[in-house]
Amino acid sequence: MRRPLVAGNWKMHGSRQSVETLLEQLASQDWPDQVELMVAPPALFIGQCNERLQSTPIRVAGQTCATQAEPGALTGEISPAQLRDAGCEFVLVGHSERRALFGETDEVVCKKFAAALACGLRPVLCVGETQAERDAGQTTTVVARQLQAVLDTFGVGGLAMGVVAYEPVWAIGTGLTATPEQAQEVHAMIRARLAMLDDEQARKVQIVYGGSVKADNAEALFAMPDIDGGLVGGASLNADEFGAIARAA
Ligand code: G3P
Repeated sequence: MRRPLVAGNWKMHGSRQSVETLLEQLASQDWPDQVELMVAPPALFIGQCNERLQSTPIRVAGQTCATQAEPGALTGEISPAQLRDAGCEFVLVGHSERRALFGETDEVVCKKFAAALACGLRPVLCVGETQAERDAGQTTTVVARQLQAVLDTFGVGGLAMGVVAYEPVWAIGTGLTATPEQAQEVHAMIRARLAMLDDEQARKVQIVYGGSVKADNAEALFAMPDIDGGLVGGASLNADEFGAIARAA
């Protein structure tokens, strides 16, 4: 059976002091044994997070990575090998903000997925449609296209080595959480598509939901059969709320 995963994406938030305070609060909580836990801080704080969270079950992730593992003249980039060396176990790839604001294409996302796997990281493949795409009835087309970019190279087994995060863009940072039924519908579509290719591996793929997950909606979302946890943005910056969301999984 799939373990639930609750992950926090801190995005571009935090200072050394605020991160130290948040880490102290996270390290002082009891965490549910059956839930995988992860936080994705700005890269500057990965070392601080690994050090302060080593006595907790919370793992650390990068928020993105370079499209190659090898060192190179890529000013400003961070290779997945460097993330692994810094103690990360996961890395987000293809977050909608990187797709929209930094022009990351499906091809680039697949290269990042590959580089992450090559370095022993678990890539979290972020997929999801915009409001306009949903309104145009293109949700399945968009999400299927984003998945296929990785499936073409790695198959369902490759996805099972990572995580799929369905994050409807219209729910990110808006407080407009998808209803459990809306989210389950897309998660079930993802699971069905994967099962058509490889039923056994499809059952292993963790598919988490992201988009305004809060303490007061997490339980209903996580009760859905194909929602295996959450990728939490704003609420993950509050240790008590992140803990409440983890306990709802
Ligand atoms: O990656 C998670 C993030 O996009 C969701 O953000 O603030 O809507 O929980 P938020």
